[in-house]
Amino acid sequence: MRTKACIFDLDGVIVDTAKYHYMAWKRLTEKLGITFTVTDNERLKGVSRMASLDIILEIGGRKLTMPEKQELAAQKNEWYVEYINMMTPGEILPGASEFIDELKRNNIRVALGSASKNTPLILERVGMNHVFDAIADGNNVTKAKPDPEVFTKAAELAGVEITGCVVFEDAIAGVEAALNAGMICIGIGDPSVLKDAHLVVKGLHEMNLDKLISLEKRLGNEGII
Ligand code: BG6
Ligand code: MG
Repeated sequence: MRTKACIFDLDGVIVDTAKYHYMAWKRLTEKLGITFTVTDNERLKGVSRMASLDIILEIGGRKLTMPEKQELAAQKNEWYVEYINMMTPGEILPGASEFIDELKRNNIRVALGSASKNTPLILERVGMNHVFDAIADGNNVTKAKPDPEVFTKAAELAGVEITGCVVFEDAIAGVEAALNAGMICIGIGDPSVLKDAHLVVKGLHEMNLDKLISLEKRLGNEGII
């Protein structure tokens, strides 16, 4: 098999933390008197903490200084950490653990590529802190998706060539990051949104090794890889 490592985004692929990000941003926007909807929240998927705040301030038509923004981002994170501290292994998304186990049984490495600085806490709360062979996250990567850094770093830490990596992503910026890295990308979500991914599935419960092998064959026949 060409695939030697699968790199997973965390938020929205392994766990559904988008609702906790939304709850924390909602609390902040209420304090600021900015109207913030679930639809607005979609724009924040895969986007770093500070860039998310910038989008919210743009929605509210506000301009703040850097120290003010840092204070607000810290406040949001305090609330977010309160929520994720209560997460349990029951919040791992359907099929994620099963697919990861199947990959490991077949000697395919599993890595994480996330923008979140809270990755270690989330993994610990859901009991997955010993699952991944390599972790690239907001703590050891500086350039935000769609920059490929988070995925190239994950590949490097896993000891696998770029051409041997397949990325699983739920955010448009994340799909672009994977493609910018020169990797195969499987989108998690809606095909009409994740248009550029090589394949889109609803969740990891729809994934298995056979599907991965078929995708490799299809892309090979189409001359894409
Ligand atoms: C991404 C999420 O995984 O991490 C974003 O999709 C979030 O919504 C980003 O803003 C940064 O997360 P954190 O935990 O460092 O604030
Ligand atoms: Mg995500």
